[in-house]
Amino acid sequence: MNTKVITAEYLSQAAQALRDGGTVVFPTETVYGLGADGLNDAAVGKIYEAKGRPGDNPLIIHIADKADVAQLVREIPPAAQLLMQRYWPGPLTLIFPKSERVGRVVTAGLDTVAVRMPSNRIARALIRESGVYVAAPSANLSGSPSPTTVEHVIDDLDGRVNFIIDGTGCEIGLESTVVDVSVTPPVLLRPGAVTLEELRELFPDIVTGRQEEENAPKCPGMKYTHYAPKAQVTVVYGPKGRRQEYIKECLKGEPNAGVLTYRGGRYEDAKLVIDAGESMQAYASGLFANLRNFDTHQIRVIYAEFEQAGGMGRAVQNRLYKAAGYRVINLYEK
Ligand code: TXA
Ligand code: MG
Repeated sequence: MNTKVITAEYLSQAAQALRDGGTVVFPTETVYGLGADGLNDAAVGKIYEAKGRPGDNPLIIHIADKADVAQLVREIPPAAQLLMQRYWPGPLTLIFPKSERVGRVVTAGLDTVAVRMPSNRIARALIRESGVYVAAPSANLSGSPSPTTVEHVIDDLDGRVNFIIDGTGCEIGLESTVVDVSVTPPVLLRPGAVTLEELRELFPDIVTGRQEEENAPKCPGMKYTHYAPKAQVTVVYGPKGRRQEYIKECLKGEPNAGVLTYRGGRYEDAKLVIDAGESMQAYASGLFANLRNFDTHQIRVIYAEFEQAGGMGRAVQNRLYKAAGYRVINLYEK
């Protein structure tokens, strides 16, 4: 397939491709999305194929106007109304009971549908101009880190999609918060930039992912390997001094190791040190690009510094632990 990389100026070509059942990658405020007409099973099938995504992992449908949610869902529970009012457009996906119009491919056979209204200007313009409800997972090959730059999209999907829109966005850098509002109380299925602390202000009894993971995986995507670079990641979780000491010790026997440092370690024995930034927001926005960057430098082993943090820290921790396949050295416990 010949993939056209275009700027937002040529958006109408991409909108036409969506109407014709094709695939278009576009920026959002979280990560790049790989879109197709969410109500067209054949078009949705192309998303799964392009990503190599398992068919039992459902997609998020993106809308450009709040009112459009009514076309996709059976009801809008009061909790959803509150959340839509406060956080849409933005990095929040809501799980609703699905309407008849929504097919089985996009929802992977579930009776619910995930809907999000992104705030990114290009994303909204594309959805609106196409006139379709745009199903879109993150625009990476299944299992690799989500793309936050157009170069990363091209690395993964060149030749596999019809259009890639090269635009600005992805300032958050991690995928949207997912909240299931089809049940009471609501359940936080995936942490993101809309934080648990904020959600608790509205729903003090909100159920969190921990409980969710113990039961059957309700967010089917949670059970697959995710975000993993080719290098093996180990998260070193602990107070600053101790984690740095621990990593320095590990580096002695590792010629091809990299460190994702958080707030200032110096590692003379590392082949590559990348600074995660000074805040959890910075850690989040750079995380996926940083993981890919280690691969570019042929790093085989990555030590990632992390510490106790609420707010956005929960989302970073969630992605980092998955990238590490849950290889975590917990120095708080020692
Ligand atoms: O920020 C984002 O959400 C990005 C941008 C492109 O919007 N999209 C994204 O999509 O991250 P994806 O497919 O990579 O992640 C969607 C998550 C998966 O974990 C999936 O299992 C879950 O949402 N999901 C989708 N539909 C669901 C449903 N009906 N019930 C429970 N979980 C669902
Ligand atoms: Mg994804």
